[in-house]
Amino acid sequence: MDPVRNPYSPGAGRKPAALVGRDDALRAWDTSLQRVRIGRTDQPFVLYGLRGVGKTVLLSEFRRNAARKDWIVAQVEAGTGKSLRELIGEALYASLADLARPSAGRRLLKGLRTALSFKASYDATGTWGFGMDLSGTPGGGADTGILETDLKKLIKDLAEAAAEEEVGLAILIDEAQDLDDGELATLCTVAHAAAQDDWPVLFAFAGLPSLPRILAEARSYAERFQYTRIQQLDADVVAEALTIPAALEEAEWDDAAVEVVVGASGRYPYFLQQFGQETWNAATGPRIDEAAARLGVAQGNNQLDNGFFRARWDRATRSEQAYLRAMAADGDNGSPSGEIAARLSRKLTSLGPTRASLIAKGLVYAPEHGVVAFTVPGMAAFIDRQMLE
Ligand SMILES: Nc1ncnc2c1ncn2[C@@H]1O[C@H](COP(=O)(O)OP(=O)(O)OP(=O)(O)O)[C@@H](O)[C@H]1O
Ligand SMILES: [Mg+2]
Repeated sequence: MDPVRNPYSPGAGRKPAALVGRDDALRAWDTSLQRVRIGRTDQPFVLYGLRGVGKTVLLSEFRRNAARKDWIVAQVEAGTGKSLRELIGEALYASLADLARPSAGRRLLKGLRTALSFKASYDATGTWGFGMDLSGTPGGGADTGILETDLKKLIKDLAEAAAEEEVGLAILIDEAQDLDDGELATLCTVAHAAAQDDWPVLFAFAGLPSLPRILAEARSYAERFQYTRIQQLDADVVAEALTIPAALEEAEWDDAAVEVVVGASGRYPYFLQQFGQETWNAATGPRIDEAAARLGVAQGNNQLDNGFFRARWDRATRSEQAYLRAMAADGDNGSPSGEIAARLSRKLTSLGPTRASLIAKGLVYAPEHGVVAFTVPGMAAFIDRQMLE
């Protein structure tokens, strides 16, 4: 069928035509948005899971839902080389610029002034004016250079500004496992202070399965955050990820075709989008049949091998690839570090830097101490396929 109208969207963070199977998390977020309006703040949300399960699109949906209610929102992605200070400062700008107006109330003006000082703390030459003269306004002071002091001041003043506007403040952090230790601890502290004193602010973190442990190690009270493991789509809704986007384009899937694609995908959202896209292109008419699905899966697997998996494999050095190969024998379940060392006939300690580098590259994570696992579902099988060549 017409590739121009193809409704599937494989790719990091790409909004799916149908966001399937995340109703519980979305409902919980919506409840928290409403609770903030009556003065009750909730603990941060933490979305964690493997690569490609849909953490970023869910986090973005959280942001959209808050923005639809005119909240002040900032969504950032850690691990891009920028400091948390700069990421949050820049992400807030659009929301603040929307609110800024000469008739603004006292608290909003103060919040804007504080945001300006926060901006100045990482960017000496950058100037935000919001088209207003804020020089006589109280506020500011979020530029001591101490992250905890400055971030707390910024969040508090903006939360008060949001309250005056009868909205709230939402801070969303993607790839949170990549924050440095100090940044992570600071965010936990500020989020904790906000929850204790009922500031109208909500935090949401997303990241790899190691994130809950990393947060708990940063600050013990992170144990009270609200953790949601994002996984494969449930069997009773997974078909909708294929059928709803097609129906929007007046096409229909045969049950047998759905079964083929769902079976091949392991119900992982990324793979469903990839196979859905290829199956659509292979189908000849508005009825998508089993033959198209089989072709779609074959072509989709090719695409995944040459893109999704290959890109990650190529990011590893030769010695890192040897490490990954030694892990592949255990499938996607994870391997004891000692076992890997034995397979490579190396000392455990000598492999420490390789392991650390693979974690830093986001290719593996430590589900528990002394164990490593692939962050990508199906990586072990991909490596096995390469070894056959
Ligand atoms: N609930 C869903 N229903 C249908 N498709 C989805 C769903 N969630 C995500 N997708 C699709 O899956 C793919 C991966 O989504 P996303 O980038 O959000 O995953 P992620 O968990 O953030 O991955 P990574 O760890 O690599 O950042 C995208 O193509 C997206 O369109
Ligand atoms: Mg993501």
